[in-house]
Amino acid sequence: EKGGHRHFMAKEIAEQPTVLGDALAHYLRGDGIELPQPGLDFADFDRVVMVACGTANYACVVAKYWFEQIAGVSVEVDIASEFRYREPPIGPRTLALFVSQSGETADTLAALRYCEGKAAKIVSVVNVTESSIARESDLVLPIRAGAEIGVASTKAFTCQLTVLFLLALQAAVDRKRLEPDELEANLNNLRHLPGLMNFAIAQSGEIAAVAKSVSEARDVLFLGRGAMFPLALEGALKLKEISYIHAEGYASGELKHGPIALVDKTVPVIVLAPTDNLFDKTVSNMQEVMARGGKVLLVTDPKGARAAADGCWKTLIMPEVPPVLAPILYALPAQLLAYHAAVAKGTDVDQPRNLAKSVTVE
Ligand code: F6R
Repeated sequence: EKGGHRHFMAKEIAEQPTVLGDALAHYLRGDGIELPQPGLDFADFDRVVMVACGTANYACVVAKYWFEQIAGVSVEVDIASEFRYREPPIGPRTLALFVSQSGETADTLAALRYCEGKAAKIVSVVNVTESSIARESDLVLPIRAGAEIGVASTKAFTCQLTVLFLLALQAAVDRKRLEPDELEANLNNLRHLPGLMNFAIAQSGEIAAVAKSVSEARDVLFLGRGAMFPLALEGALKLKEISYIHAEGYASGELKHGPIALVDKTVPVIVLAPTDNLFDKTVSNMQEVMARGGKVLLVTDPKGARAAADGCWKTLIMPEVPPVLAPILYALPAQLLAYHAAVAKGTDVDQPRNLAKSVTVE
């Protein structure tokens, strides 16, 4: 049942190129995107409110960057347990979007019920389509990741991101912010993603070697800018939940506002930095860490490594990827690092202590 892998988590990480390809095949038709019925028209909405917990929440934070940059739509992202009790105003031009692998997370379901009768539409992005959240939505977008058994979410995250990216593209088309050739270029880039993911997975051995040293650390920091910031949060969550190592993710630019005080030669600092328009800024934050003796693990592409690997403790090289899709690809080294650190520590990877796969109580 684990398909020759030692853990479900390893199997689910390795499945990502395949399930992502399947998800794309489901949503792409000819030269366009085909969403399930009843369709949405993003010209009807002024804002999107996205609500979720944990990893699904970080998928929403990545999507916020996409919706704002590609479609010019305002997005607010909330943690379900906060949203549900805050009495946030939800008007008739607000689209309420809920992301949940299980579709049963109690706080997310309660947040959805709060929006019933207030929001223009309730849309959910779920893996389990026979779930409460799916049943109570006006429109359901399945992520088609297949059963996810490992408690730490992996393939559901990258499939959530993929569906949210398609939705951002659709929003841009509806709002006349994307020409047909730009849409086509984006869809082609997406079609190349499973192949790039295979390259990332092929580095598993190298990542395992780095993870062995990371597993000896007491604290680990993850840094990223732009849409790589939520990836830093996700990398830290993944590491802490399965290896029990204390980890925090920060927006690179926030470093000097406090967390840099934690940096010394025992703290691995994992910098997620594809060569995008923010690369130089991230690198300058990374150099501040190195100037204080921090052990930097730079995750970048060949061009980034040529420009910035000097002085880093270690460098992991990902294939070059269009910057907008980097959050999907860079999820894999973050997952593999957490996985191998947990294996090195001998923790229960698929069933980490104190955690449940589906959180059906608040
Ligand atoms: C982290 C993880 C959790 C879930 C969260 C939401 O690896 O798995 O943070 O993402 O409990 O669960 P769903 O998506 O089922 O609502």
